[in-house]
Amino acid sequence: AGWKLFCFDRIDSTNAEALRRLSADAPPFLVTAEGQSAGRGRRGRDWVSPFAENLYCSLALRLDGGARQLEGLSLVVGLAVLRALQDVGLSDIGVKWPNDLLAAGKKITGILLELSGDPADVCYVVIGVGINTNMQAVAQEIGQPWTSVRLESGVLCDRTTLALRLVARLGEYLERHRTQGFSALRGEWEANHLWQGERVVLASGVQHVEGVVLGVDHQGALRLQTSAGEQCYSGGELSLRLH
Ligand code: BTN
Repeated sequence: AGWKLFCFDRIDSTNAEALRRLSADAPPFLVTAEGQSAGRGRRGRDWVSPFAENLYCSLALRLDGGARQLEGLSLVVGLAVLRALQDVGLSDIGVKWPNDLLAAGKKITGILLELSGDPADVCYVVIGVGINTNMQAVAQEIGQPWTSVRLESGVLCDRTTLALRLVARLGEYLERHRTQGFSALRGEWEANHLWQGERVVLASGVQHVEGVVLGVDHQGALRLQTSAGEQCYSGGELSLRLH
C-alpha cells in the first residue's frame, strides 16, 4: 500500500508512538511492535499485549476530506480485519458494533481510532489494530471472553502472513471508503454483523437503552428499534451487549 513502516521491539503503545510521530513524519505510515507496555483499549482500558504473541499495529493517515471521511471509518477497519482473518483460514467470525471482532462469540481483535488535529481542518487519524494471534493464556485478567487465531484454528499462526494480509485488506477497504464513502460498504458490514436483529442493551456510563438492532445508518451509527421508535447512536464510548 506504499506506507512507510516503523517497527519496534517493545514500545508503550503503537498508537501513542504514531501520534508522537505525526509531528515529524508525514502520513501515511505504519507503526508495529512485538510488545506493548501500555497498550491502550477503548474506554480507557488497557490492552493486554504479551511479547511476540500477537499483532499490534497503528496506521497514521491524513484525512483530506475533513470529518466526513471519518463516517463509518472504524466499521470499515473492522471489515478489513475480518477479511484478513478469513484470508488466513478463520471462519465463524463477525463484527460487533462499533468495531469489535468476535470469533466463536469471543473477542479476537480490538480497534482503537485516535484523532489528532482539527476535524474541520487538517485532521489525522491513527488506526490501532490489535489481533490476538498466538496468545493462549494471559497473566492478567481480561474483563471479557476472548480468543485468538491459534485457539480457534488449533495451529500456530504465522504473524508475518497475517500482517501482510492485514495491510493488503486495509489498503483495499480504506481506498473504497475514501473514494465511495461508507454507504458503499454499509451492506457488506451489516451482512457480517453478528447482532443484526438481536435484542440488545446499549450502555454509555449510567445510561442504558434497550432495543432491537436494525443495522447502521450511512454514517455508521447504530440503528435501534426502541420503545420510543427508531433511534440512532454513535460514539466510541458506547458499549453493546445482548439482552
Ligand atoms: C479495544 O479496546 O477493543 C481496542 C484495543 C486496541 C488495541 C490496539 S493494539 C495496537 C494499538 N496500540 C494500542 O495501544 N492500542 C491499539
